[in-house]
Amino acid sequence: MRFFSLKTRIVIGEGSLSYVKSVAKNYSRVLIFSSKSMRIHGFLNEVMNYVEDSGAENEVILGVPAEPSYEYIENILPKVKEFNPDLFIALGGGSVIDVVKAVKVFYDAPNLKFEEIAFLDRFSKPKPIPKLKTPLVAIPSTSGAGSEVSAASVLKKGDVKYNLVSFEIAPEFAILDPRLPMTMPKGVTRNSGLDVLVHAIEAYVSTVATPFSDALAIKVIKSVFKYLPLSVNGEEKAREEMHYASTMAGIAFLNARLGLCHAMSHKGAWMASHGLLNAILNPYIMEFNMKIDYARKRYAEIARELGFNTAQELIEVVKELNEMLEVPKLGDLVSEDQFLAKLEDMSQKAYGDPLINFNPVEPSIEEIKELYKKAFYGE
Ligand SMILES: [Fe+2]
Repeated sequence: MRFFSLKTRIVIGEGSLSYVKSVAKNYSRVLIFSSKSMRIHGFLNEVMNYVEDSGAENEVILGVPAEPSYEYIENILPKVKEFNPDLFIALGGGSVIDVVKAVKVFYDAPNLKFEEIAFLDRFSKPKPIPKLKTPLVAIPSTSGAGSEVSAASVLKKGDVKYNLVSFEIAPEFAILDPRLPMTMPKGVTRNSGLDVLVHAIEAYVSTVATPFSDALAIKVIKSVFKYLPLSVNGEEKAREEMHYASTMAGIAFLNARLGLCHAMSHKGAWMASHGLLNAILNPYIMEFNMKIDYARKRYAEIARELGFNTAQELIEVVKELNEMLEVPKLGDLVSEDQFLAKLEDMSQKAYGDPLINFNPVEPSIEEIKELYKKAFYGE
């Protein structure tokens, strides 16, 4: 028995940002978390106007740290409680949406302790998050994280990254207005777009994939090869298609989860931005997974959808896409000394990452170490 669920109502199309008004009219106090970029480009003002038109009061919390921490959530909570919202809006990239998901947990269930409900690794058994009442409208401005539909929020506490995972924090609404991702810089467009490809490939080869997640993953992979290079060059139609592909990949991995590539990129997050690091690691992880029939068969299925035949050919076209988009080598981004100093620790932590459970092959710590090294030296 397997499941496929989607909690989020998805609204798409140019101008769909106005749907904020239709949602807000059922609430009276709307708290908007926004990135600074969304204010600069005028979209925060537009959202505030829709909330005002709906007759609700609004308040804004502006600028969320790129790698949000539990400490940040604790700092911001008194302000949230003082305003006492009955609806949250998250306007920005994946970090903004992840922050609001976590704020919602501790606002709606103030007696919860962070350590009790957070996943530290795949061996920990956190308490389930109880029913939460305040709805969340997620409005992504980047096309990559899938946080607008996913049930997870990644937060740091000290130096350690934790996951909150529950359908209770999946947004009630996701608004995909293609005007917003037009504001993405070229580098963000490339890195987040390559992350989308890894989401779809990992979801497709996952041990809990279903025909439903497969359909989305295949559509996403085709979209990435067709549209990502054009989207990076600023072509508007392509960027719109990538925005939708990003959410589709989010629905695929919300259900089928991810694998070793994300386990290793999460634990090596200090080396490069999330999407870029996934893009660098991905071909090595695919080669590694090829040791079992199931993964070879699944990669070959993707290859055939793209007009090729074999799993090996898929790995080659994934590498070619990286080259075409000028993805650097890991060794160009971090020094060898720093890399070697952190290698053991990263490898151990990646081994404990919950996503290893969904990878077609369970790696040893030694094998993870070898994969990081291959990616570093570009072998
Ligand atoms: Fe990702």
